[in-house]
Amino acid sequence: MAGSSYGTIFRVTTWGESHGKGIGAVVDGCPAGLPLSEEDIQAYLDRRKPGQSKFTTARQEGDQVEILSGVFEGKTTGTPIALEVRNKDQRSKDYGNIMDVYRPGHADYTFDQKYGFRDYRGGGRSSGRETAGRVAGGAVAAKLLESLGIRVYAYTRSIGPIEIATERMDLAERDKNRLYMPDARAALEAEAYLEQLMAEKDSSGGVVECVIEGLPAGIGEPVFEKLDANLAKAILSIGAVKGFEIGSGFGAAAMRGSENNDAFAAAGRGGASPAAVKRTNHAGGTLGGISDGSPVIFRAAFKPTPSIARPQHTVDRFGREQEIEIRGRHDPIIVPRAVVVVEAMAALTAADLLLLSMSSRLDRIQAFFGTGE
Ligand SMILES: Cc1cc2nc3c(=O)[nH]c(=O)nc-3n(C[C@H](O)[C@H](O)[C@H](O)COP(=O)(O)O)c2cc1C
Repeated sequence: MAGSSYGTIFRVTTWGESHGKGIGAVVDGCPAGLPLSEEDIQAYLDRRKPGQSKFTTARQEGDQVEILSGVFEGKTTGTPIALEVRNKDQRSKDYGNIMDVYRPGHADYTFDQKYGFRDYRGGGRSSGRETAGRVAGGAVAAKLLESLGIRVYAYTRSIGPIEIATERMDLAERDKNRLYMPDARAALEAEAYLEQLMAEKDSSGGVVECVIEGLPAGIGEPVFEKLDANLAKAILSIGAVKGFEIGSGFGAAAMRGSENNDAFAAAGRGGASPAAVKRTNHAGGTLGGISDGSPVIFRAAFKPTPSIARPQHTVDRFGREQEIEIRGRHDPIIVPRAVVVVEAMAALTAADLLLLSMSSRLDRIQAFFGTGE
């Protein structure tokens, strides 16, 4: 299967299927000397793992990570870091009734068309479980960024029609409710909405918002490796993401230039490239595909979970039309578990582009090697 790796210098490869023996990632290109423990990675996986509330799949996985290589005496060695999570609570028989049937909205039909083969046990690699490898790899990237003063965080912006109110937003609230919403009132309303949908055997979509704070200006490679282009690719590669926008995003299309332009102000540092700060951040932290020093802010739109228990019309592999009712354990909403997946993909992108940026200026290369004037 092509396409399981992401990144140029800081490169992650994810492996494993939903109902195979295990799932994980290999991170290559992480600099040596970074303090890294299983606890660092576990903290990220714990936010993604299933069975946390009635709004996530009832599959019970401890998602305990093991570092198999690339760390010695608590620090990275510069060699590939292999991370493994064993699968424990597979119930492949739940999928027996749909082994030949294409679930509407899922990847069964397209996988079958592409490979002439389909892992019907939980969707194989098209399962949301694949994101455990991304989160494990992203935790390593986040640790690297943290050592450079860069912080990545995400939260649930909306669930169905219920959106957080900017004036009530309180990040401390995010981890206190099961939906990862930084607004207690919106979280309560969203819970009631989800309960109603679950009673109707239906599912909901929503939006995750993510912020990268502390990224210095100058990160991102024109023309094809732009910061925003790479973020879009990373985020749209997460299952069920159907939209990506940065800064004002689609809203910018309805604005005037005079509203949308972020005015610059002097930041006090002179020299060959004087520092400037922006008074607003409609750009979302990037200009010309290069970070501008303000927070990078973007949003990901998730569709409603495709596997729903309601009867649905479909066909099987033999072209027979039929009604199906999907059993098995599914998330009635993907968004709360996906918040940390978005963070992980943003951290992987920022870490990779940071390392790539180190070759853009001769004066910095000379400073690194202690040569030059
Ligand atoms: C964290 C996460 C959990 C998911 N859980 C489920 C689930 O329980 N049931 C389901 O049908 N789809 C789930 N999905 C979505 C499917 O993986 C996705 O819709 C499917 O692969 C089809 O891809 P597409 O929606 O991007 O076209 C989940 C996705 C993520 C990221």
